[in-house]
Amino acid sequence: MQKLEIRSGDPLTTSCDAIMIGIPSASDRRPTLLASLDDAMSGELGTLVQEAGFTGQTGQNFLVPTLGTVAPRRVVLVGTGLADSDADARRRGWSDAARVAERAGARDIGLATLELDERGVREALEGIVLGSYRFTKYFGTLREGEAAREPATYLVVGDDLAVLERITAEVATIARGVFLARDLVSAPASDLNPETMAAQAAAIAEEQGLEITVLGVKDLERLGAGAILAVGKGSVVPPSLIHLVYRPDGEVTGPPVGLVGKCITFDTGGYSIKIGEGMLQMKTDMAGGAAVLGAMSALRDLGIRREVHGVICAAENMISGAAFRPGDVLTAMNGVTIEILSTDAEGRLVLADGLVYTARQGVSELIDLATLTGAAAVALGDTTALFANDDRVAGSLIEASALVGERTWRMPLVQDYKTRLKGDIADLKNTGGRPGGAIIAALFLEHFSEGLPWAHLDIAGSARADKSGGYIPKGAT
Ligand code: BES
Ligand code: MN
Ligand code: ZN
Repeated sequence: MQKLEIRSGDPLTTSCDAIMIGIPSASDRRPTLLASLDDAMSGELGTLVQEAGFTGQTGQNFLVPTLGTVAPRRVVLVGTGLADSDADARRRGWSDAARVAERAGARDIGLATLELDERGVREALEGIVLGSYRFTKYFGTLREGEAAREPATYLVVGDDLAVLERITAEVATIARGVFLARDLVSAPASDLNPETMAAQAAAIAEEQGLEITVLGVKDLERLGAGAILAVGKGSVVPPSLIHLVYRPDGEVTGPPVGLVGKCITFDTGGYSIKIGEGMLQMKTDMAGGAAVLGAMSALRDLGIRREVHGVICAAENMISGAAFRPGDVLTAMNGVTIEILSTDAEGRLVLADGLVYTARQGVSELIDLATLTGAAAVALGDTTALFANDDRVAGSLIEASALVGERTWRMPLVQDYKTRLKGDIADLKNTGGRPGGAIIAALFLEHFSEGLPWAHLDIAGSARADKSGGYIPKGAT
């Protein structure tokens, strides 16, 4: 992550390699800063801007060297569009513009905030910081130069230093959580398994003052968590439920929340084995667990006033003499029996026990995140599929996703389809045919929500991107 510093004073007298200035589109009001800059450059800036066709639309940016006329050596104009235009387009615009500045060689980069409101400053920083992510851990001698590159420094220049301080700290905290999740998702399964995931969670717990309990095979047997145990049986690394608890320092403003993440550190499909192409990305099948850990890591610094339980259902879905088989019957923690039709429908199995376990911690609502079905990605692309048995929880998740620019769409829990999950010799089977696959998976999970308000985010299509765009890198998002 870049270094972020707060500065007071006039951006045009702030010495830096580049100053970024947000320019709204079609404004009859020329930003004062742009006017002073244009004056300092004898009207030449205005001419260049016009010739370049820069109108301030989101997505546009324009870099001009200032050639000694003001303290910043370059100016980067960043289109911020109309006041009611898409906030996420603005984030992407800032991210692109920051890249333009850095590619031009700028290392100390000012962000002029005088003409942005609080939301505008937040969007700018979110775009700039989230867009700077690179995963260089595995670069070797051929790419060590790239890995060693010092991050740039951003100077947030403005008047109300307390407000800038607060926004900057919040964006940095959120970005650290996002980067942690991206790092975990990008890590190869040879390094990230249920054990090393638990070690990472323990390190975060220590650093953030969270309680942590790692339930191993013995504990899971005692609890009757036969579903996660079955999925983990084929791996040399045993499965575990990683349970983190955040308790706020001061006053608490509502009942505890449970976050549950699917953390299959590698999904071969088991004996219902995946074909090559399908297996290639499956080190990322732990993105739900990574998102839970990323969120847990940010709660204290954000001053969240609710108790939060984060439960990561960690297992590796492998083939071996000990692995579970199609036709096996297992019993989940709530006593529900499950007939295995496909060992590749393993995510819903680990979540079954994870949901029941979390519900029994006294939380008032459950939210799970899982790269659960290819069907969700087929239906919605990189939009997250949301399922919920409760309109309030669904509504607040939709609202939150819109605020942060993460596309989310509510899908129906068609109760009539539940008959497709009826087992032949057990309560349930773990698959119910291809049509409506994401819905069937969600209906399976609903059996383990213990009557609580519950939402399920199927992130199979959104956890990973095939190509980079804006502030979303290629790979783990
Ligand atoms: N981890 C996969 C789902 C997945 C697929 C995530 C592609 C990301 C990209 C999951 O465990 C799985 O294999 N689901 C099966 C379910 C089927 C057997 C009912 C699927 O989607 O094909
Ligand atoms: Mn699978
Ligand atoms: Zn999976």
